[in-house]
Amino acid sequence: MKISAHAVGRMLGTWQEGPGPAHQRLSDRLRLLILDGRLCLGAALPGERDLATALGTSRTTVGAAYRTLVDHGYLETRERARATVRLPHGDAPAGRRAGGTDGETIDLSFAAPPAPPEVLHAAFATALERLPLHFERHGYDRYGTAELREAVAGWYGRRGLPTSPDHVMITSGAQHAIGLLVRTLLSPRDKVLFDHPTYPHAIRAFTDARARLLPVAVGPSGWDVPQLLAAARSAQLAYLIPDFHNPTGMYMPASVRRSLRPACPTVIDETLADLGLEATGPDPTAEPFAVTHPTAISVGSVSKSIWGGLRIGWIRAVPALLERVAAARPATDLGTPVVEQLATAVLLNAGQTRRPEALRQLRAQQDALLGALAEHLPEVHAPRAAGGVTLWARFPEPVGSRLAAIAPDHGVTIAAGPQFGVGGAFERHVRLPYTLPPPRLTEAVRRLAAAHRALTAGGAGIHTPAPVA
Ligand SMILES: Cc1ncc(COP(=O)(O)O)c(C=O)c1O
Repeated sequence: MKISAHAVGRMLGTWQEGPGPAHQRLSDRLRLLILDGRLCLGAALPGERDLATALGTSRTTVGAAYRTLVDHGYLETRERARATVRLPHGDAPAGRRAGGTDGETIDLSFAAPPAPPEVLHAAFATALERLPLHFERHGYDRYGTAELREAVAGWYGRRGLPTSPDHVMITSGAQHAIGLLVRTLLSPRDKVLFDHPTYPHAIRAFTDARARLLPVAVGPSGWDVPQLLAAARSAQLAYLIPDFHNPTGMYMPASVRRSLRPACPTVIDETLADLGLEATGPDPTAEPFAVTHPTAISVGSVSKSIWGGLRIGWIRAVPALLERVAAARPATDLGTPVVEQLATAVLLNAGQTRRPEALRQLRAQQDALLGALAEHLPEVHAPRAAGGVTLWARFPEPVGSRLAAIAPDHGVTIAAGPQFGVGGAFERHVRLPYTLPPPRLTEAVRRLAAAHRALTAGGAGIHTPAPVA
């Protein structure tokens, strides 16, 4: 697939900002686009001259950036053909590892806790006992098993939103639910409004649907109601994460929820809703968005509250919409595995999505991460998250992409801020999950601080000879 210079330019956003030579910033930014899949394997990049023109930079800069990517295994070149995207051989990203980082790379690029083994084991044991009841049927079910639809309806009921199982469709995770809704509700060139920053794979679903993007800023003081309402007037769909927003961990206050009446269909992502961490303050389970907005379409998941490997999520919506989703679904999948559904039903019915011990552990991990940042990266501003699993950390300089590019050399991987936005926004940010035990988090921050020191001292990154002017 050929990618135009303008498309690459749009993905790169404001890559010019930040320390270090331009060709290095450009190659780091392109490498991140490759690693997070926005530039997919086999994609043919524009020629150097075209990209240089689109970016308003010199051909020498683009040439040097491309050469760096070729040297590190991210691009393949053939004579008289466009350079194509590839990945380096071996699982570690190419690049050398700076000294003093013993042990394996610490992965802070995923924001998901490990599984609770005993809890899962017991749920699967029960699920296996119940499985034979399903053997007489074919096992294909676009809406999900009755057991799990009832359990999800019960989950909403306990949160103050009476729900009938026929308002629930089971999906293979929340991302699947988002993809199905996007396919059902959006046409090319429709406008979709979303929190900015937001969950990156939702943005990916919108751009794949060729929707036009209407990002509305979620700033340090939260959601901007007038802006959201204004954007909703021209949008065909809104996507919001009011419950422990990814990546900031913020909680939309009840007063804001009540004053938000978006004029377009609104998808509320409740993937993190069970992970409220404040000992005091509003009970996050008290008021699902749809209590005050009965037409809201909710998306849920057990990926963060129990385990991502279950791959179980759901949509809560009126049956008429679920019918449209069910009609669109067979193009990509024919149902969700039954055993996982039965186990998840057991877990939901037993209230295992809000385990006090797991929440205590997340709180302690959040404290450890904040403590390590204060000690090793005091210049970083990272507000405490009300819930969820991540901090949204802001550096004084626009170093997010470069830091993410060189962090693996120092033994840690992170997600750079621009992944959570559009047009190259959030270059000062990185997202840091607190899903690892405190000693690992402290070590990860120590490694990140080493990467940051190397970067700001100008002595890090993918090294290339300086471009010849
Ligand atoms: C806000 C949000 N929505 C959806 C997802 C995807 O969840 P799932 O693993 O259920 O597909 C995530 C995972 O990070 C998320 O943070």
